[in-house]
Parts: sequence; C-alpha cells; structure tokens
Amino acid sequence: MKLFKFMCYILLVSLTAAVSNKSFPAKFKFGTATASYQIEGAWNEDGKGENIWDRLTHTNATAVKNSDNGDVACDSYHKYKEDVRLLKHLGVKVYRFSISWSRILPTGFTNKVNQPGIQYYKNLIKELLDNGIEPMATLYHWDLPQPLQDIGGWPNELLADHFANYARVCFKAFGDSVKTWLTFNEAKQTCQQGYGSATMAPLIKSPGVADYLCTYTVLKAHAKAWHIYDDEFRGKQRGRVSTVVDSDWYEPASNSTSDMEAAETRRQFTFGLYANAIFLGNWPQVVIDRVDYRSENEGYAKSRLPKFTKQEIDYIRGTHDFMGFNTYTTSLVCKIEEPTFNETDYEFDMGSNAFQDPTWEATNSTWLKIVPWGARKFLNWIKNTYNNPEIIITENGVSDAGLLKDDARIHYYTEYLSAILEAIHTDKVHVSGYMAWSLLDNYEWLAGYTEKFGLYHVDFSSPNRTRTAKKSVDFYKKIVATHCLVDKCVTSGWSLFRVFSYFFSR
Ligand code: NOJ
Repeated sequence: MKLFKFMCYILLVSLTAAVSNKSFPAKFKFGTATASYQIEGAWNEDGKGENIWDRLTHTNATAVKNSDNGDVACDSYHKYKEDVRLLKHLGVKVYRFSISWSRILPTGFTNKVNQPGIQYYKNLIKELLDNGIEPMATLYHWDLPQPLQDIGGWPNELLADHFANYARVCFKAFGDSVKTWLTFNEAKQTCQQGYGSATMAPLIKSPGVADYLCTYTVLKAHAKAWHIYDDEFRGKQRGRVSTVVDSDWYEPASNSTSDMEAAETRRQFTFGLYANAIFLGNWPQVVIDRVDYRSENEGYAKSRLPKFTKQEIDYIRGTHDFMGFNTYTTSLVCKIEEPTFNETDYEFDMGSNAFQDPTWEATNSTWLKIVPWGARKFLNWIKNTYNNPEIIITENGVSDAGLLKDDARIHYYTEYLSAILEAIHTDKVHVSGYMAWSLLDNYEWLAGYTEKFGLYHVDFSSPNRTRTAKKSVDFYKKIVATHCLVDKCVTSGWSLFRVFSYFFSR
C-alpha cells in the first residue's frame, strides 16, 4: 500500500512538474473570444441583411450537421448584457467579438447604413467598458453579406474597396471606444475552405484557383483598412489594427531533409500565404515558385497565383501593429512525389501530405489533437520568421460534447498555457495576450452545435438559451486572477500579490 501511495505521489509530481510554474507577465491580458454568426442569432432582426451563412443554412441545410443554423444561436443579440456578466465573473480584461457586416450595412455596400445594427454594438461596447472590459473587435469573421457574394465574393478584387468602406464606417462609429481592431479572422478558412475545398460558406470548389484570388483580395482589403485607420483615425483614436492568422503547426514526420523542407513549405502555404505580405512583403518565395511551376506544367497560360505589383507589395508590407494568432493543433508532414499535372489542387501545390499521429491525445474532435509542444514550436517559428512581433493569441481552445464537468478542457488549457509560458520566459517570444475560444458553446459552422468549445454551456433546446458555468469557468477565473497555473508560481513579488489578492477576494 505504501509503495502504491509512493508511486501515485511520483506520478502526480511528474505530471504537475510538467506544468510551468512561471507566471504570466503583469501586463499580460486574458480574455475570451466569440464571433457574430456563431452567437448572435437575430439573423433578420432590426434591419440586418442576409449573409452567406444565412443563405447556406436556409437553402442547403443538409450541408450542416443536424441541419443546424445560426438563426437564434446563443441569442446574444438579446442577451449581451448577460454575456457581459459572465465575462465580469471570469474577471477577464478583454472580450474579442466580431461585427456582423450585414447588421451594419445590410446590402454590404455603404448605400444603406443600419442604425439599429450600429446601436447594438454601441450598447455591447458600452456594457463592456462599464464593467472594465476592453472590447477587441474583429471586422470579418466569415459572414460576408450575400449581395457581395452575388458579385463573386472574395475572388472579386473589387471587394477590397467594399471592405475598406465598411471598415471606415466601423472605425467612425466605434473607434472612440474600441482600441484593438482585427480586420480578418483566419482568412485561410475563408479562402481555402470557402472558395477552394468547399467546406465553408459559400461552398465554392475551385482549389488552387479561386482560393488564391480570394487571398489576393483579402490581403489588399486588409491593407486598405489598415491605411484608412492610419491616415484618418489613428491620430485621434490611438488604437491598433492587425489581422488574425492561423494554421496547424506543421512538424516534419521524420528528420529527413525532404520532410523538413516539406513541413516548411506547408507552413508557408498556410500561415505564410496570409502573413508574409503583411509582415515581410509579397508572397513567400516558395509559394510563388511552386504555383508558377505547377501552373505552367498544368498548361495554364499564366500562373494561377495573382502577382502583386511593386507598389502593392510596398502598400501591404508593414500594415500591422501586432500579430493576431489562432492556434489549436498540430499535424505531421511528409514529402510526396510530384502529384500529377492533370489536376489542379492547392494540396498538390504544397507537394506534401499532412496527417496526425493517432496516438496523440484528443477529445471527441476529429481534427483537434492535444499537442501543446506544437504551440510552443509555432510561437518560436513566428518569432524567428517575422522579426519577433508582438503576438496576441486571439483564439485557443478545445471542443467536447458539452460536458459540464469538462476536465479535458481544463487539461487542454493547462497544457497549452504552460507551453505558452515557456515560450514567453524561456524562448523570449513576445506574447501579450490570450483569448480563450470560447466564452459560450456556439454554432461551430458545418459541425452545427455538435462541437462545443464554451467555458459556459448553453442550452440550445430552451428558448432562453440558458447559460451554465462549466467546471472550466472556475479554473480559468483563477488563472486570470493569479496569472499562474500552479498553486504557487516562482517569480516576482507582483505574482505573489496577485495570488494573495485572488484568495483574499474569495
Ligand atoms: C477558429 C474560428 O475562428 C472559430 O470560428 C471556430 O469556431 C474555432 N476555430 C473552432 O473551430
């Protein structure tokens, strides 16, 4: 029995020893994140226009698990005050939400500005500020106004101007109160899934063609919005603007040179495709080389990758005040033989296969393996590739079936936050904030309501959309208050002060 107890003790010590006992810097900001279509509901209320997710879920319901839609979602349009109370309870400093373009401009164009839509976000922002919570607003989290899809959507480069006009309306309406702006959330999913693999609205399948056209427009749209802010608003409003880039971490499947090169190429095709032009200038060279090479062999008259002019490269380069970074999981990469030239595919352009190790830990998610070391490697790669930018982790989290006793989520957050702490302290990566995805269980795109990421459970069968705290709420609240993952962190007097004030305030 004694031996058993001793072994348990050793196991416990070795498990807890893996968790970093360093503390998050005093100025580090914790928050949570959501997105308009995933939580707001009120899809056609108070003058809101139709967007591509309204169209998809109403005309092609079977594309979504259980034919779910976001018509009501968490009903946050009506329950935003309650949501702010939940945020207040968590003690977070920041709330990242997104603005629904169609709620502000029902046609997508500036010919009609919807005052009730503007008022909704003003009310939300005021409620946040009155409770001491900073608003962090995303301008585009995948819900394109349908009339803009009707003229071709993001592959149409005219959308860059329409987005810039929308951004100006938002900066003007909310910029006195919102000081952190994100133009695009995970544009990779908008382009590669929306216009490439047809796994997101508007479900267009044109891999290796429309997806690159989309990326080209999105990068120009982002740069225009950043310059508008810089020229017309920054002086008075004193805020910051950037974009959110995401990807899996791609780890070579072996230490062969070819797998290592293949993994780096894949990073450039996923993350670099969206970050390089903004942080360094132009597309990554390997992307240009591979797409030009394959386009020629496939028989195209010119490369499928649209090229930026010198002027455009200069205009886009430097349009960031920090880097927004979403990270969830990791994949392994191995080089493959050059795929056939008879077919065009973004996957073929990358020239590799990506897969996950089946022995890696997971919840019930099909794609989200728990691989915290991947997040740390990714942060180091960003630091080294993009000249050590300030990084705000704008999303990180894990889904399950919606359990109130969500130990897997607590485990995930502990491990990822621990890896992030080591990246900050040991590797000197400049991470300044962390937004847990998500405040609430919500509409998970084509997975409908089957994948639950919330700290708070939402009862989607009740008209009240009742919110209930999961076990992870107390867990996250404690981290937010103490900046520490273990009972006692080794560091400055500041962190001890935080720990004491947390325990005395209970
Ligand atoms: C990233 C997206 O921004 C968000 O909308 C989504 O719910 C989470 N990943 C989880 O898949």
